Amino acid sequence: MSNWVRAHTNIALIKYWGKENENLIIPMNNSLSLTLDAFYTETNVTFDDDLKSDQLYLNGHMQDFNALIKVKTVLDLVRKKAGIKTKARVDSYNYVPTAAGLASSASGLAALAGSASRAAGLDLSSKDLSKLARRGSGSASRSIYGGFAEWQKGHSHETSFAVPVDAADWDIGMLFIVVNDKKKDISSREGMSRTVNTSPFYQGWLDTLDADLNTMKEAIKNQDVHKVGEIAERNALKMHATTLGAKPPFTYWSPDSIKAMDAVKQLRETGFSVHFTMDAGPNVKLICRQSELEDIKHHLLVDFKESQLISAKPGPGLHAISKP
Ligand code: DP6
Repeated sequence: MSNWVRAHTNIALIKYWGKENENLIIPMNNSLSLTLDAFYTETNVTFDDDLKSDQLYLNGHMQDFNALIKVKTVLDLVRKKAGIKTKARVDSYNYVPTAAGLASSASGLAALAGSASRAAGLDLSSKDLSKLARRGSGSASRSIYGGFAEWQKGHSHETSFAVPVDAADWDIGMLFIVVNDKKKDISSREGMSRTVNTSPFYQGWLDTLDADLNTMKEAIKNQDVHKVGEIAERNALKMHATTLGAKPPFTYWSPDSIKAMDAVKQLRETGFSVHFTMDAGPNVKLICRQSELEDIKHHLLVDFKESQLISAKPGPGLHAISKP
């Protein structure tokens, strides 16, 4: 019997940046995201008595030990919960519209949590799946849900999980400007750890988060895409500002990221309600009305190639699929 599941990636509008507990992946702050239709991971886990060690196949290729670390964390927790010792084979496929290098650990670890728990015969609630996915990668805790989700930081394994915020059945979308598809130099894990430990700006980031989160939730409730974008853009800029104060300093921005940010500003001057956010890499993600995605894309073709522009709409939460 197969246990294929699909999980979609999510992009944070209020960022998770820093851990209170690195082992248990308890964050310093609550974060809030939108799960998207365009990018997802499909995963099937099989526990097999004949296996001597866990195996991970990504897009059909067997992965080395390093790629297995996050995966093993989740598998070990599932084995413990199910009272088994059996090793597992994990087959995982990342679906991104182009070779954009946007495959994120959020969809991957959420799909793994979903499939591994099913394969072990566990029938977990969304809350428990969120906790399990969190242990693989923090942002994965939010990909259990479709639409908007808030990861409530909590203070222990049991109390740190995401909850749905809104079904997102309204006129909001995202447009990805892919400016670089290479693997990032500094992983989000290392970047946030360095920032927490060395950046004097980190406390400033933490101090304004409650206000950002509250106004963001209000803006979502009012379906106010302009306000959602405005708060998200400012929140992202504050997060990225902390990295410049780190020791040694670093940034995820490239010259093309700044070109994309300028293009967003110009689009705003043209009358579009559009803002941007960025994560631990140089790609820029626009927040706008779903109904204006195509128009905005058209305007961006002056500065970027069609293959660099990917539209996304709110997507579903973790779900089982049938796959031959
Ligand atoms: C900038 O979830 O990838 O995308 O928990 O260490 O695996 P780990 O980190 P990860 O960090 C994501 C950071 C971010 C912001 C966000 O998604 O909230």
